[in-house]
Amino acid sequence: MEFGSKVSSPEKVKTACIIVPVFESGKLSSSTKQLNDHADNYLTNIIKKGDIKGKIGQTLLVHNIPGINADRVLLVGCGKEKDLTDISFRKICSATILAIKTVNAIEAICCLAELNLKDRDLSWKITQAVKVFQASEDRTDTLKSEKDDSELSLGKLNWLTDSKTDSTKINKAAAKAAAIAAGISLAKTLGDLPGNVCTPTYLAEQAKSMGNTCKSMKVTILDERKMEQLGMGALLSVSRGSRQPAKFIIMDYAGGKQTQKPIVLVGKGLTFDAGGISIKPSAGMDEMKYDMCGGASVFGTMKAIAEMGLPLNVIGVVPSSENMPDGDANKPGDIVTSLSGKTIEILNTDAEGRLILCDALTYCERLEPDTVIDVATLTGACVIALGKPASGLFSNNQKLANALIDAGEESGDRCWQMPLWDEYQDQLKSNFADIANIGGREAGSITAACFLSRFTKKFHWAHLDIAASAWNSGANKGATGRPVSLLTQYLINRC
Ligand code: BES
Ligand code: MN
Ligand code: ZN
Repeated sequence: MEFGSKVSSPEKVKTACIIVPVFESGKLSSSTKQLNDHADNYLTNIIKKGDIKGKIGQTLLVHNIPGINADRVLLVGCGKEKDLTDISFRKICSATILAIKTVNAIEAICCLAELNLKDRDLSWKITQAVKVFQASEDRTDTLKSEKDDSELSLGKLNWLTDSKTDSTKINKAAAKAAAIAAGISLAKTLGDLPGNVCTPTYLAEQAKSMGNTCKSMKVTILDERKMEQLGMGALLSVSRGSRQPAKFIIMDYAGGKQTQKPIVLVGKGLTFDAGGISIKPSAGMDEMKYDMCGGASVFGTMKAIAEMGLPLNVIGVVPSSENMPDGDANKPGDIVTSLSGKTIEILNTDAEGRLILCDALTYCERLEPDTVIDVATLTGACVIALGKPASGLFSNNQKLANALIDAGEESGDRCWQMPLWDEYQDQLKSNFADIANIGGREAGSITAACFLSRFTKKFHWAHLDIAASAWNSGANKGATGRPVSLLTQYLINRC
């Protein structure tokens, strides 16, 4: 779908369909009122009949209205004008795109940006709407032999405005949002791919092809031999139980000045987590193909910022492996030596994410980072603690944590901070090694973050636990593309 703007007025604009708001109790917004005035109260007469009450998400398609140039009008319920929130605005956008896809039109005109939201400007509204509209194009049936072709597709959506300056603003915001949407879409596609397709080698190939199409991105893949030379004993211990070789993926985007220190994004790329010898129960185990969604969100964010040409240096690092049971797999009680030199007692082989991440985080030291943010489907405990509305946030630097919280609020892809207090560190004591890889039943997502914090002392660091936010289960099973929006917004704000 393409997005643009049109300087005109509702009654004059020629289009297959014009999308306008209606509030509860039949109150019209400005563009709707303008249409109605030119159409001899055609719209208020229809509304009086009671077919649309103006509740959020209600829609009504009206054809052949006299006195205006649009072929159709799509009325969209927006609730009470005073009560509009970020969340209801996105619901309105979802309902709109669903309705417009029943219309046989290749283009439409949208007036939803005239809705007023507290503290939200035009660019924000365009960005949010474009993300919602574009998400409707994402498919989950790419591996089905028969595709669902019942939906009609919209080729171009133009935002209506009466001002040239706003038109420029709209085009800029729409282009940025389209880049973010492309990143989200990539993260979803990779996330949804099954473990037998999306292996560490497959992810490495995807990174290479992204590097080939993007001039300012250099991609390097470390194979197991190279990781061995470096001493990534924790990461390699996980991969030893799998027939798929591990890959260490580095995507180096140089959009900023040469002297500028890079922001490093580290994503857990566990392409299938069976749990290893501490094997997981089989019910729902298929969902562990999503254990690479942290890595996928780093891919998506790199794609988005490269498309935007963001003036920053950003390095994406994705340690990628499977976690399988095998004669050569890690056993409970095994002790391995990490890249940092610290020894780790593996008391549960299912706590593998932290094992691959700790070596990736130590590796970050040599990149002389400004900031490191890791993203991981790390703990079931985080699912219980926060559920889907928020990713879990941990940080050793409050300014960084605040910046991520703000970026979450702005993008609608939120995170919520949890403590990293010293008291929790005690749960990771081991009798035989420097640190144990699990901290017992209590505060599981915090002790996982505490484990990572032992490897991030040399830089400003934040950790996002996306175990709940990265995908949906049930009838709508599928990756969400989170937290590409949050990360991209954070990076935009850093410019
Ligand atoms: N990938 C899982 C975490 C996970 C579980 C994400 C459920 C999403 C849904 C991770 O590798 C894992 O298995 N963690 C264990 C840690 C435990 C053994 C300390 C967990 O959360 O159960
Ligand atoms: Mn696991
Ligand atoms: Zn895992």
